[in-house]
Amino acid sequence: MDYERPQFFRVMQYADAAAGDVIDMVSGNPDWEPPGALRDGLVEYADGDPEQFQYPASEGLLELREEIAARRNVALEQVLVTNGAGEANHLAMAEGLTRGAGDEVILTDPVYPYYAGRTNLLDGQARYVAVDDDGQLDPDAVREAASEDTALVVVNSPNNPTGAVYSEATVRELVDIVEACDALLVSDEVYDHFDYGGEFTSALAVDSAHRVVTNAFSKSLAITGFRVGYAIVPEWLVDRFRTRHMLTNVTSSRPAQYAVWQALRETPPDYYGRNREMLRERIVAFTDALDAAGAEYTTPQGSFYVMARFPDFSGTMANVERLIDEAGVAGMPGAAFGESRTDWFRFALVTPRAEEAAERLAGYFD
Ligand SMILES: Cc1ncc(COP(=O)(O)O)c(C=O)c1O
Repeated sequence: MDYERPQFFRVMQYADAAAGDVIDMVSGNPDWEPPGALRDGLVEYADGDPEQFQYPASEGLLELREEIAARRNVALEQVLVTNGAGEANHLAMAEGLTRGAGDEVILTDPVYPYYAGRTNLLDGQARYVAVDDDGQLDPDAVREAASEDTALVVVNSPNNPTGAVYSEATVRELVDIVEACDALLVSDEVYDHFDYGGEFTSALAVDSAHRVVTNAFSKSLAITGFRVGYAIVPEWLVDRFRTRHMLTNVTSSRPAQYAVWQALRETPPDYYGRNREMLRERIVAFTDALDAAGAEYTTPQGSFYVMARFPDFSGTMANVERLIDEAGVAGMPGAAFGESRTDWFRFALVTPRAEEAAERLAGYFD
């Protein structure tokens, strides 16, 4: 399987070029408003002194790093602001694979395709551990796959695409495994605000010099285009992360960081709660309508993706194109996420038309 270039953009382009009205459920772009304080912060910034339009500190605006450190209860030193969770993941994987502690990367199947693409790009060897039908990862299976060649274990909870949220016990075991084989755990927590059952445990709950936590404001503040994320890095790796970030990006966008800082300080918890509630309702409406399509589906505990499979209709790119052209619904092929969900499709519930999409699917498979 070619994991070099994730297929999201290919599907989006196909859907954009389609003749009819297509409901886009491909990308993970939130369709709801960012907090008002974020817009205010940007406007305020635009009227500011030109000095503020120059390079910020490479590791990120001090105020933003302080805010993150306080919220995550870590030392300021450990916080590096990155261009989204994507860069944070890349830095962590690059460090894991260049420190001379093995070249194997343990990933789940299904996998968020960027981890697989990066493993190839960085000359790592991917080893896949299949999750169960509910998307849960069995730490014993990870332990079995791990060896002295393991450089990294890369996980994501709440998970894209399965919607699984890993238990605290699983997180603890994963840390234990990487410590035992001198590897790094990369815990991508970009969907931490979208946890419907209150089960989510950050890997920060387990103190360890072997875990890197990555996150971003892309989803939680509905700003995937701002490119503001962060890594929380063990102290011994801070310098290496900073150097790699500086040599790759110089720094991250200053107005975007400022606006995020304003939003963090002034947005009440209610903002996140309302979005969670709206998504919870969307998930119910979408999956109820999928029942009518005779589909099997996942009910996410977290994130905002539903995987579905339809009788005698596998999750290939060709069938994705058929659904776009003939049903007017664009999703991702399950085959893009690995070997284990090739019969499935993934639908991102970031459209107010989610229920209508499921009704279209029901009509198509009728
Ligand atoms: C699991 C996961 N990690 C990282 C990202 C990318 O986050 P960012 O846009 O902050 O780089 C995404 C985006 O969909 C994601 O699903």
